[in-house]
Amino acid sequence: MSGKVFLSFKKVSKYFPGVIACDKIDLDIYRGEVHTLLGENGAGKSTLMNLLYGLYHVDEGEILIDGSSVSIHSPGDAIDLGIGMIHQHFMLIPVFTVLENIILGQRSGKPPLLQLETFRRQVSEVAGRFGIDVDLDAVVEDLAVGMQQKVEILKALYRGARILILDEPTSVLTPQESQDLFRMLEDLKKQGCTILFISHKMIEVMQISDRITVLRDGKVIETVDRHKTTPRQLCTLMVCRDVSFEIEKEESDPGEEVLRLEGISLQNKGGLFLLRDISLRVCAGEILGIAGVDGNGQKPLAKVISGLQKPGSGDIYMFGQNITGENTRSRIEKGLSYVPADRRRDGLVTDFRIWENCILEIFYTKPFTRGFTLNARYSHEFARRVIREYDIKTPDENVPVKNLSGGNQQRVVIGREISKNPRLLLVVQPTWGLDVAACEFVYNRLLEERNKGTAILLISTELEEVRSLSDRLMVLFKGEIMGEVDPRTVGPAETGLMMAGEKRDKSIPVV
Ligand SMILES: Nc1ncnc2c1ncn2[C@@H]1O[C@H](COP(=O)(O)OP(=O)(O)O)[C@@H](O)[C@H]1O
Ligand SMILES: [Mg+2]
Repeated sequence: MSGKVFLSFKKVSKYFPGVIACDKIDLDIYRGEVHTLLGENGAGKSTLMNLLYGLYHVDEGEILIDGSSVSIHSPGDAIDLGIGMIHQHFMLIPVFTVLENIILGQRSGKPPLLQLETFRRQVSEVAGRFGIDVDLDAVVEDLAVGMQQKVEILKALYRGARILILDEPTSVLTPQESQDLFRMLEDLKKQGCTILFISHKMIEVMQISDRITVLRDGKVIETVDRHKTTPRQLCTLMVCRDVSFEIEKEESDPGEEVLRLEGISLQNKGGLFLLRDISLRVCAGEILGIAGVDGNGQKPLAKVISGLQKPGSGDIYMFGQNITGENTRSRIEKGLSYVPADRRRDGLVTDFRIWENCILEIFYTKPFTRGFTLNARYSHEFARRVIREYDIKTPDENVPVKNLSGGNQQRVVIGREISKNPRLLLVVQPTWGLDVAACEFVYNRLLEERNKGTAILLISTELEEVRSLSDRLMVLFKGEIMGEVDPRTVGPAETGLMMAGEKRDKSIPVV
């Protein structure tokens, strides 16, 4: 595809204290293409787009539209230039209707009520032109996330956007909603819209893009044509080394039952069910995955299993023994290790040094204590072993954890938890914010643990991840298990239906 250059970045730089977020970016975007920015966390993708949308100011270089230099000092300037941005967290007002949200902030001479019908006609016209099917009178908070995203897109189009920026738009969507979005983007493209798409999910990048630009450390590494590249090549460009993309694992050989949940329910203060009648079991030497879109009960489930929260009803067993009433410490003593989703809040004390973080929950056990005193020598040795085995980039174990990068912080948590030789490993979002190489490392460690006979419960919103790692897979939706599938035989589409609330025991049309 050799399109006409519509939008250009010329040697655009953006500095933050101590970081060059964008480093002399040269990039041409063609009219009517879907151009994807791909890169590890921190590569500078969002910053570059925030510069285009006027949320940040360009420190050096310039942005050209149709060949002329433009100055963008605010989102207002960007909107006037026909640039729209769909944020990862929507900016809609939940209690307003779709129409009210879309026309919010529009200038008009007449009193708003008199104008409403005019606005309605205009918005319907735009929606019709772009084939966007939404009920203008629906209240936004009643809409599914995918629909809210469409409202955001309609809002941008109504304001005259010709360039649409979508920053990781599918991270909040089910696979079906993502496919819906992609069909819509295809339509927008046909209507002449130019789309800037940010993602780190290889499958969708290969599906939707015309061209892909890989960013690394704030620099453009290469722009490639989708038809002339492969996921492997893109991964290599992203991390600058060859990585194996598929996870290879042997058949599992499950042993004794380690964890069993029976009819676990939990309600919040308002009586809403956070968890409803959850039953599951995990055996030694297998990985049970829990898939689902974020916010469907993952957090309460992890809390109930780790002992941080008592269930409202139901029972929890470890090795056949009822532990429902036992606290976290006693579960840890029975062999539980827990890798929480939010490592900075729940997994680490970031002001503490690495070695202190390595013994957070076990400092009172042998051999970390001798009599009443801490065995400092053993504790330091333990930390050095974690650093060595988990390849943590640090001068030594005395560095405060807050000075490590996100990926290295996660290695501290995973290294610490696995080095305790757990019998049950509860892992939530283990690769959140990690780059491809670090993900691969974590996957291999988890599989090693499983092969050694540890029971693993993996809760993850990354469908590809949880499908490829798990031996059995359950889907969580609004706090309820929708069913169990064999990830080797059941594809992402059917799993995705369950993520959207379809139960497996009903007859599901296969898409
Ligand atoms: N507001 C900010 N203040 C300071 N540093 C920032 C800010 N926004 C981003 N950064 C830094 O700039 C770099 C690029 O970040 P970002 O553009 O968010 O990357 P990406 O979207 O590719 O993950 C990172 O090192 C990040 O820590
Ligand atoms: Mg980003």
